[in-house]
Amino acid sequence: MKSMLNVALPKGRLGEKVYSMFEKAGFECPSIKENNRKLIFENKEVGVRYFWVKPSDVAIYVERGAADVGVAGKDILLEYTPDVYELLDLNIGKCRMAVAAKKDFRYDMSRTLRVATKFKNIASAYYLSKGMDIDIIHLNGSIEIAPILDLSDVIVDIVETGTTLKENDLEVIEEIVPISARFIVNKTSYKFKSDAIDKIVKQMASKG
Ligand code: PRP
Repeated sequence: MKSMLNVALPKGRLGEKVYSMFEKAGFECPSIKENNRKLIFENKEVGVRYFWVKPSDVAIYVERGAADVGVAGKDILLEYTPDVYELLDLNIGKCRMAVAAKKDFRYDMSRTLRVATKFKNIASAYYLSKGMDIDIIHLNGSIEIAPILDLSDVIVDIVETGTTLKENDLEVIEEIVPISARFIVNKTSYKFKSDAIDKIVKQMASKG
């Protein structure tokens, strides 16, 4: 029997684009296009099983081997440093990790900077590299509210179009790192399913 390739797809904004990249690589699964609430789809003929997971969870599935491969943002890989192979930059989902603040913001070196973020490791490493001591305020979303309500001085967050910042009267003050979606692979799976995985990487790289 053909072995199955288990693929963790990021649910949401990037999901459909990512699935169509796998489809072009020969791993089609037409049932995935049916509009329902199912989370797992498989096509036994081509040997693939897809599951839709929260984008920030893809790396966990791949690291632990529940998925052989997946697509995760570089932000997640930098924040959680999962033990996986990162084989390809897919050049989609492009955005940047940045520091943003209210328009009149200036650093005040006499007091500890309050930083609101979902990405505490990225934020800590960034300010450590600047030699600044910070107080991290860990939030799970709507980070932009924090400086407006004086919960924090700055935020460290993803900026894509910049609309969220603009509409909340905030602006980028420093860019930390560019972000894009990456093709990641479980280390053991790469030994045993290298034919299928190499086929995908080759096809996806040629589209990049
Ligand atoms: C992300 C990010 C920003 C926004 C940036 O949030 O945290 O809030 O997108 O996009 P923009 O520059 O195009 O406006 P997301 O939508 O993932 O929701 P969240 O508030 O739950 O983090």
